[in-house]
Amino acid sequence: MVGFIAGVVGLAAAGVVSAAEEVNIYSYRQPHLVEPMLDMFTVETGIKVNTVYVKKGMVERLKAEGKNSPADLALTVDVSRLVALKRAGLLQTVNSIQLDENIPQNLRDPDGNWFVLTQRARVIMAARERVPEGALTSYEQLSDPDLGYKICMRKGNHAYNISQISSMVSALGREGAKKWLEGVGKNLGRKPQGNDRAQVGGVYSGECDLAIVNTYYFGKMFTGNGGKNPEQIAWAKGVRVIFPNQGDRGAHINVSGVTLLKHAPNRANAIRLMEWLSGDMAQYMYAHENHEFPVKIGVPTSPLVTKYLSGGRFKADSVSLAKIAEYSRVASELVAEVNFGS
Ligand SMILES: [Fe+2]
Repeated sequence: MVGFIAGVVGLAAAGVVSAAEEVNIYSYRQPHLVEPMLDMFTVETGIKVNTVYVKKGMVERLKAEGKNSPADLALTVDVSRLVALKRAGLLQTVNSIQLDENIPQNLRDPDGNWFVLTQRARVIMAARERVPEGALTSYEQLSDPDLGYKICMRKGNHAYNISQISSMVSALGREGAKKWLEGVGKNLGRKPQGNDRAQVGGVYSGECDLAIVNTYYFGKMFTGNGGKNPEQIAWAKGVRVIFPNQGDRGAHINVSGVTLLKHAPNRANAIRLMEWLSGDMAQYMYAHENHEFPVKIGVPTSPLVTKYLSGGRFKADSVSLAKIAEYSRVASELVAEVNFGS
């Protein structure tokens, strides 16, 4: 009996030691989108997670900090940002059977430098009252001079739009994509402004009929953002979600992902967190808290996504993430050339 008690005390002491362990993150993702998972990781492992939320300039910051950087991991949306970190030589390779098993091959860097954790589609949300079902089926139609509907869209140089414009470059070529962007510009109901959800707000207020939005914001709005934005419930209920280009290349997909930084001071803990984020619990939470599409096969989408977003079962553009990243520079040039709210 004494031995048993000693054993328990020993474990408790070990627990105290591991509670002092930590992992440091620089995140482009907003706190409300990642904190639930990071808190759960701490509960499960005792490893403390310190997160710095960065708005811009992560590459420059990491370069300036060099070997003295406290950061272990970077969390971000958009493959071009993941690739930019890699190109700047700020990452290190991770060899992990668990990451390889959990994340499909096309969603991992071949060199093990970055890993996709969630996917979402960039879709059209159309005013239920004003845009009949079937009236719009493709991104291309958004640039039609006879469209007859007004579009709300955030600034062209935001990562989500750069990623989508890159996919238009891939589909239509540079000139085709430029013409498309010019046409979309002419159909705007107002100057590009605000975040994704604000575009749906623009549809609700009647400034626009169509909004370009990432899928998970439909879930965020539909649930009133966990009680923080009850007015957005009506915004979500007022729109129909259209997955574009289902008859040809499919809807544009963008991603969020994680990378291990070159000078990570807490390397082992960082890899443990990367693996955890790709595992069942975190993937379930990403799906159910954020309404994103999980990358791990077999993890279900949220009931809301299942009901209103066909459970994530739609035709997705199969263009490679590497191509999207490669075209991001051209996409930025086009935004400047047509002066699309940059
Ligand atoms: Fe977002």
